[in-house]
Amino acid sequence: MITEIGVDLSKAEDYLRKGELVAIPTETVYGLAGNALNDDAVLKIFHAKDRPQFNPLIIHLPSWQMVEKYVEEIPVDASRLASAFSPGPITFLLRKKPIISDLVTAGSPKVAIRIPGHPFTLQLLTQLDFPLAAPSANRFGYVSPVNAMHVYEGLHLRIPYILDGGPCEVGVESTIVDFEDGEVIVRRTGKISVEQIAATLQKPVRLETSAEKHPVAPGMLHSHYATTTPLLCGNMQELAQKFANKKVVLMGWGTMEQIIASIGKIDTSNIVACLSLSEQKNMDEVAKHLFATMRKADTLGADVVLTHLFPDVGIGMAVNDRLQRAQTDI
Ligand code: TXA
Ligand code: MG
Repeated sequence: MITEIGVDLSKAEDYLRKGELVAIPTETVYGLAGNALNDDAVLKIFHAKDRPQFNPLIIHLPSWQMVEKYVEEIPVDASRLASAFSPGPITFLLRKKPIISDLVTAGSPKVAIRIPGHPFTLQLLTQLDFPLAAPSANRFGYVSPVNAMHVYEGLHLRIPYILDGGPCEVGVESTIVDFEDGEVIVRRTGKISVEQIAATLQKPVRLETSAEKHPVAPGMLHSHYATTTPLLCGNMQELAQKFANKKVVLMGWGTMEQIIASIGKIDTSNIVACLSLSEQKNMDEVAKHLFATMRKADTLGADVVLTHLFPDVGIGMAVNDRLQRAQTDI
């Protein structure tokens, strides 16, 4: 199957109505979309990504008003967060109605729902009379795509159409929020931070993203978002020492000079490249550039990619989470 990249919304709509897949832009990462109410289309998503069927999919809707069609109840905290942040990079885990098949939720009684903030995709969703199931449009386990070419690299010949909405603004996947017995639990960190959620709801919020506690949600497991070249994060000086005779790519923030300086007085002749995620040390910019830079680092023929972690607040938590999951156990 030839894969076309374009900006034709009606072409995207036609494919989706026929039960075919289309990659769609969102403000977080590109999604691989199919009709969420058509099990054949949903199965195609799992196959195109090589994704195991026990990993559930997020469904995308054009507005919060549509949510009640698909879920049994809407907790008041969910409504408050939706008013504050939807459309936007936040996903809600809510008790599903039978119209959502067990294939989409991998047997869970809850469905993940998100109203994405990208104008193209919102328009597309408005034109359709069904929601779109869409995981990130990468091969299972690899780094998420943040532009149309990234999608093409991973999925060409597997899907007919990529709707090109330009580079993604946020750069890391949506924050996933769960609601249980009046408690609010963040299951995946993202642009909408734990601090913002707690401030909006005026109550404490639990952060529970550890892999051990959620073996049924492998999107939250280790060895996700991973480059093929081993990636390690931590103290740059120690790491550079450890891999002194290997070909290394350094990744970090600040200027090139600052990143090189961070490894101390080590022979730099083995450094293949030094990649800055944000020269100005701006965390939103770090998140926006993270996946594209990881993908670039993966093309340089290095033995290892070394990076440091970032201040663990706001979107920094999401960046650190993705880096740690991309990390190779050596
Ligand atoms: O920003 C995003 O959320 C992007 C864009 C395309 O919307 N989507 C995305 O999808 O990141 P995906 O499939 O790569 O990650 C979704 C995560 C997975 O870790 C999955 O296990 C979890 O959400 N998830 C989906 N449905 C769930 C459910 N019913 N219960 C628990 N976890 C769920
Ligand atoms: Mg994913």
